[in-house]
Amino acid sequence: MTNPTRPTGGRPNREWWRDAVVYQVYVRSFADSNGDGKGDLQGIIQHLDQLQELGIDAVWLCPCFPSPQMDHGYDVADYFDIEPTYGDLAAFDRLVAAARERGIKVMLDVVPNHCSSEHAWFKAAVAAPKGSPERRRFYFRDGKGQHGELPPNNWTAVFGGPAWTRITEPDGAPGQWYLHIFTPWQPDFNWDSDDVRDHFDRMLRFWFDRGVDGFRVDAVGVVGKAAGLPDQPVMNAALKATQKAGGNPYVQFQPKAHDYWRRWRRVIDQYEAEHPGRQLVTVSEAYTPGRPDLLLKFVEPDQFHQSFCFDLMLVPWIAPLVRAAVADVYEVLSGAGAALTWTLNNHDTQRAVTRYGRANATSIESWTKNNLVYVDAPVDEAIGLRRAEAMIAFTAALPGSLYLYQGEELGLPEVLDLPADRREDPLFARTNGKEIGRDGCRIPLPWNGDASTAFGFSSVPPSEGPWLPQPADWGRYAESAQAADPASTLTLYRELMQQRRALDVEAPLEWLPASDDRLVAFRRGDIVVVLNVAADSVVLPAEVLPAEVLPADGLPADAARFHSVVFSSVRGHTEPASVPGNACVWLHAPHR
Ligand code: GLC
Repeated sequence: MTNPTRPTGGRPNREWWRDAVVYQVYVRSFADSNGDGKGDLQGIIQHLDQLQELGIDAVWLCPCFPSPQMDHGYDVADYFDIEPTYGDLAAFDRLVAAARERGIKVMLDVVPNHCSSEHAWFKAAVAAPKGSPERRRFYFRDGKGQHGELPPNNWTAVFGGPAWTRITEPDGAPGQWYLHIFTPWQPDFNWDSDDVRDHFDRMLRFWFDRGVDGFRVDAVGVVGKAAGLPDQPVMNAALKATQKAGGNPYVQFQPKAHDYWRRWRRVIDQYEAEHPGRQLVTVSEAYTPGRPDLLLKFVEPDQFHQSFCFDLMLVPWIAPLVRAAVADVYEVLSGAGAALTWTLNNHDTQRAVTRYGRANATSIESWTKNNLVYVDAPVDEAIGLRRAEAMIAFTAALPGSLYLYQGEELGLPEVLDLPADRREDPLFARTNGKEIGRDGCRIPLPWNGDASTAFGFSSVPPSEGPWLPQPADWGRYAESAQAADPASTLTLYRELMQQRRALDVEAPLEWLPASDDRLVAFRRGDIVVVLNVAADSVVLPAEVLPAEVLPADGLPADAARFHSVVFSSVRGHTEPASVPGNACVWLHAPHR
């Protein structure tokens, strides 16, 4: 399948992250080395060889700092240490060294918007008097109402309920309220405070000193709040329509936050200057569907190196929408020279297999934009998997970097039927079960077929089972079996990552005319990539193939002389003149 004439990718002076494949590790669910039913750093070390074989450039570890785990690490109690359940700083150093030996870089996840209510600063703030410097690191306000019994404003929390919680003052009296955009266990930092800004400067440098290559930056879109914390406008339909990015205008996308990110970039640039040879990266998490202009603001040259282009992850299985999700972002970001950062899965989103397998996946009307909300449309996992394989093949050929989420290489579906009493995501409890939450994409990985060790997730049988229950048939996705199976999803990912390395990284994306609504087609260098979202095979229209090789009456009998299938998401497909249903092919089709 490989074509030796294609150029090899990579440029000596190009930053590694521009085209990197980064693998997201949800530490708690990746691999458990000590049988406590929760993943840990040693578990990651034990599986680095498999990650290397997958062909990745870096891992991003979800927060592994000490945390009460109310939001599974996105509630950080200490930004300068390792969560004891996961290991310690020595284990972290071993992980960085072992990854480096294999040519894998390590990225951490930094949470700047809030910390844990168990963070020493927050505990000090609660113990300190009103108006104290300790309280100024957060948003403490007096309540409204005669006795301060009402929240200071009408803001609501992302995970349900009001965005304010009242404390008891040190003298036992009902006291001030503090702001938390997510849960009460995640008090928001006040970024107007010098202490807060200094704290994060120190944090970045602390982990860079330990060998970390970069950070994924959590929830940047809500950092920094509008002065005076005014009531948010009551959202009627008309107002919602004008606010495409949604949400509270006094919380989301505050212009002043960009000063904080400029400050980070100065810290990072300076660190690089002081440490020749180090190339560091930050990737920000900002959901800006349909608003590439907003996205661009995060990847200005003096801010983040990358920001996830989530639009593609959020679209239904409809060709013109898939194309638009890429094209709009591509035009704006690459037009400005900014990096592109694609992803199809993460720990907050229902897995692609399930999204694309839903009966509503092809319907614009019933597609829910928010993947966190449960829809009860039936799921056909076989179709979903086939589409997910096609979509990763499509995405892997795009210019830019690619972020994978653990388990997608095994074709894991979302687990939808977790019993309510086993659900751990605060989103479930805080919305009284209205939203089923994100546990279903966080189920511990199946490494082998041995049910007694949670399918190899644990090195020894976990005494109380894994922290989230795995489906009884989870073993059918086992990594060990897939690694040995040429037709498996894992093999497809491995081959794809290899093919991707041969792409000319500097080749731009050129759209091919889309007269057929079932297809999305683009060229990159000598490769033509075609995605077919229809159920049936489609004969490639002339416009997708270079015209000069085509006679007026269609494909020449010897078309294969000019084109060969470099990669197909459907195994064994070698016919260059057509694309199977729900599939993506890469054709070798040199400009002539
Ligand atoms: C981000 C994280 C999510 C977390 C939230 C609050 O969206 O990806 O998992 O719950 O921020 O930190």
